[in-house]
Amino acid sequence: MLSWDEFDKEDGEVAAKTAGAAQASENGIDKLDSAGGAAALEARAVTAADSAAVIRAKAALDELDIAEGLAELEGSAARVAVDEKRMINCRADLNQLVPFKYDWAWQKYLDGCANHWMPQEVNMTADIALWKNPEGLTDDERRIVMRNLGFFSTADSLVANNLALAVYRLITNPECRQYILRQAFEEAIHTHAYQYCIESLGMDEGEIFNMYHEIPSVAKKATWGLRYTRSISDPEFNTGTVETDKELLRNLIAYYCVLEGIFFYCGFTQILSMGRRNKMTGVAEQFQYILRDESMHLNFGIDVINQIKIENPHLWDAEMKEEATQMILQGTQLEIEYARDTMPRGVLGMNAAMMEDYLKFIANRRLSQIGLKEEYPGTTNPFPWMSEIMDLKKEKNFFETRVIEYQTGGALSWD
Ligand SMILES: [Fe+2]
Ligand SMILES: [Fe+2]
Repeated sequence: MLSWDEFDKEDGEVAAKTAGAAQASENGIDKLDSAGGAAALEARAVTAADSAAVIRAKAALDELDIAEGLAELEGSAARVAVDEKRMINCRADLNQLVPFKYDWAWQKYLDGCANHWMPQEVNMTADIALWKNPEGLTDDERRIVMRNLGFFSTADSLVANNLALAVYRLITNPECRQYILRQAFEEAIHTHAYQYCIESLGMDEGEIFNMYHEIPSVAKKATWGLRYTRSISDPEFNTGTVETDKELLRNLIAYYCVLEGIFFYCGFTQILSMGRRNKMTGVAEQFQYILRDESMHLNFGIDVINQIKIENPHLWDAEMKEEATQMILQGTQLEIEYARDTMPRGVLGMNAAMMEDYLKFIANRRLSQIGLKEEYPGTTNPFPWMSEIMDLKKEKNFFETRVIEYQTGGALSWD
């Protein structure tokens, strides 16, 4: 351990250890030491009032060495210029949030925070009465509620785990990481919301939470997503080669464009359609809040993917485009199968054929959002009201009261 007494020694070992401190000197950190050193030593002097534990804590800090922290930053401790920032494989210091390069990422972080909500705020009384009334819902309607709670209760955990255990580490930009942390918390709220619905309605929790193992149409979607997280969640995995950068890109396309961008859409449409018919309005309200969060997650992911393409055009070759197209088409196919399984007959003014059209319409949008050719030409949207629900202006109205409440509650006053 390098001590301050050894700082002037010029022998080999100490010189090597002070290599990191040379950077500190350039950055003016040595000024910080000399200005703060005497005051710190004075504050750390042992007094008669100190317990043995306090004395041990002070002594341990005598060995704290700034050079160690600088070495940890691997030479990236300089002030960050905006041009050095990159979405992946960035060498600039990731602890410096500003200057921003991707203003859109910071804006999404602010928007996400402004729209904070919690599941317990939604009144579930009418849903509980309707669910417990044997005449309340048809078997087909019950199937829709059960299947969707089964799929979503674990799907959002898959997304959260992928973010926290794989994506966060590999996206080398602090404003995007700030949004990813916000998104990860929103995924926790979504899982909480599904759990809250399941508990409120008195459902068999084991049955619902195990559907992603036990019900084929749910299990296939989960298995498809997990395939893309396996390699990059290995702690040894790193980007930096064409193959590994492409692997991260595949993961982002799988999770943002397919899982959050296609796999959620049949279920959202079904539950919101139920709410529009004044059935299960509490569950529908929870889904409406979640859908608004999800459309922001999706847009963030699309922006990240497109930014990686701009900064690394060599990754977006014919092979990668074909792979990305295939992933979106496979996801669409699985969601069409899920629609058939959840709607064996027409229900709530919709049927599996209409849902198939809707999913093809959504798939076209996902393809074009990342610069790929639409594969279902001429498909129209049979559920225009879904677009209205997602329309930002309308959502703002929907959330207006809540947003104002939060902003008032969150503004601290020292008076
Ligand atoms: Fe979610
Ligand atoms: Fe999400």
